[in-house]
Amino acid sequence: MNTDRASALHRPILELPSELISQIAAGEVVERPASAVRELLDNALDAGAQQITVRMLAGGVRLIAVEDDGTGIPHDQLPMALKRHATSKISSLSELESVSTMGFRGEALAAINSIAECAISSRAAGQSSAYLLDGQSGELKPVARSQGTTVEVRELFFSTPARRKFLKTDTTELAHCVEAVRRQALARPDVGFSIWSEGKLIEQWRRCEGPQALQQRLTDVLGPDFMERSMLLNYRRENPLGGAATTVAVWGRVGTPEAARSRADQQFFYVNGRFVRDKVLAHAARSAFEDVLHGQRQPVYALYLEIDPRRVDVNVHPTKIEVRFRDSREVHQAVRHAIEDALATPRLGQLPAAPASQAETPLMPEPGRPNNPVYISQNGMAFGPTQGHRVSDLGLLWSASPAAAEPGEEAVTCWPLGRALAQLQGVYILAENAQGLVVVDMHAAHERIVYERLKAQFSSQGGSPGLSSQPLLIPATFAATETEVATAEAQVETLQRLGLDITAFSAKTLAVRAIPASLAQGDATELARSVLAELAEHDASTVLQRAQNELLATMACHGAVRANRRLSLEEMDALLRQMEETDRADQCNHGRPTWRQISLRELDTLFLRGR
Ligand SMILES: Nc1ncnc2c1ncn2[C@@H]1O[C@H](COP(=O)(O)OP(=O)(O)OP(=O)(O)O)[C@@H](O)[C@H]1O
Ligand SMILES: [Mg+2]
Repeated sequence: MNTDRASALHRPILELPSELISQIAAGEVVERPASAVRELLDNALDAGAQQITVRMLAGGVRLIAVEDDGTGIPHDQLPMALKRHATSKISSLSELESVSTMGFRGEALAAINSIAECAISSRAAGQSSAYLLDGQSGELKPVARSQGTTVEVRELFFSTPARRKFLKTDTTELAHCVEAVRRQALARPDVGFSIWSEGKLIEQWRRCEGPQALQQRLTDVLGPDFMERSMLLNYRRENPLGGAATTVAVWGRVGTPEAARSRADQQFFYVNGRFVRDKVLAHAARSAFEDVLHGQRQPVYALYLEIDPRRVDVNVHPTKIEVRFRDSREVHQAVRHAIEDALATPRLGQLPAAPASQAETPLMPEPGRPNNPVYISQNGMAFGPTQGHRVSDLGLLWSASPAAAEPGEEAVTCWPLGRALAQLQGVYILAENAQGLVVVDMHAAHERIVYERLKAQFSSQGGSPGLSSQPLLIPATFAATETEVATAEAQVETLQRLGLDITAFSAKTLAVRAIPASLAQGDATELARSVLAELAEHDASTVLQRAQNELLATMACHGAVRANRRLSLEEMDALLRQMEETDRADQCNHGRPTWRQISLRELDTLFLRGR
């Protein structure tokens, strides 16, 4: 891409052929000062600048000056730069279709010059003198400056006072201008940026080099808080049918669900280095968060997508803020998977990992071992044939495996979530790990574990997805409403796929005869009632496609251990080990955290204890 840029630099500025002009997305290029800032930055970047300085007066309305150290414009070409449809960046339709520069329309400077007083001074690479072009008079005169270009834009919208009235306060316009620079700065860590307003330096981001350049720039621009609450992401997807041309790569950082905000103001998405607001990408990101972020919370991210330029059309919107992908499904999937993968990796995995031999010890019941009768007692407790195992009310089976037996000192240092110490108020598990104290919300954590297990089972049942069920030796009967009875009858097949067997016992009584094997410890009646309630709201034919995850989440909630249930230390340890092996275990199904670390240092601070 850089070599393409470099070769474009030395090309003359020429008028586009008329048939190409008509192909270019027309419309208003400059809506407010920030749009002019963005266009001028685009030009500086296309010119290979390494350092860019933006100066503004009155939020950019009185002055925007963008100075760069790029290749410059030879003086005989300066007047062409202000001409409409004149560009050095493309000259044919095929170049338009594979454009890798920010600019390609030859419109921006002409548009800005028509609504403001413009002046360009430039010294081209290899030339000994610099020239200044006055955009109003067309006068060209020599000036002194080093290599590069400065474009000055004064009195924006001076000739269209109505337009000027639509502008917000200077402070607001300035904020938009700074945001425009911030967007570009996040795309180009290799370029230094500084922003001045009313003669004062207000932002400065130094050039970064080396493999950590992007991380450094993200820290500088978005702050350490963003870095702490976000995860690295690096994803490549090769189309097995195509060559390198069909590769989609996505990298950057994505915020944890806890870092989500009430506004969508920290969502930066770049396609081949260009900041875009794209529906496909936004939807893909949103759906990747579906499982861990509920309600109106907005995820945060800075993501970079790279794709063959021929597979994306950047010429769809006059301000280039939107793009169109040739295969939007492919891109949607790549982005969704990239984010899902990052979110699925529990952050507790970043703590020292458990030794492999122990991590492999199965602590979980073999989910869905079919037709293994389970007795459900009045209070929903499960008892069953143990075959040397014990079934607890947590639904965890274990033999005398070394990991489940007395976890010793080793557990404290090796297991990311440590060794269980106690249960607090029937709600929290307290555990000790190498960092200090771990507090776990046991219901939230178990809910996630059950949910992930259900999802995995549901999708791994081959051709017809479904949960394996376990018959109850004594069916659980309950007094049902007419709707519940009707729903149970109408949705037999759906219920079956959910591992439930619910039949009418009498006109007003339903009997639950089987429940999903992995929810064997749950309350069969409660489970049946809530699933029927949800099914009643949906159309039978589509419910499993559309509402599958919601249904499974509801079921998980019923299957998860309730507050106020006393757990033994063994049970608590088993839960911690399961959390360590479960995707997305850091959040419950509603996006709340499942565990917190309280470090020794924090405890020391609490007790004013110096170490
Ligand atoms: N800072 C700069 N350094 C070097 N050349 C520049 C600079 N700014 C503009 N130019 C030259 O002026 C031409 C016109 O710029 P302008 O921004 O109007 O159009 P463009 O960048 O080609 O396309 P677009 O309208 O899509 O931005 C560019 O093609 C480029 O050759
Ligand atoms: Mg341009």
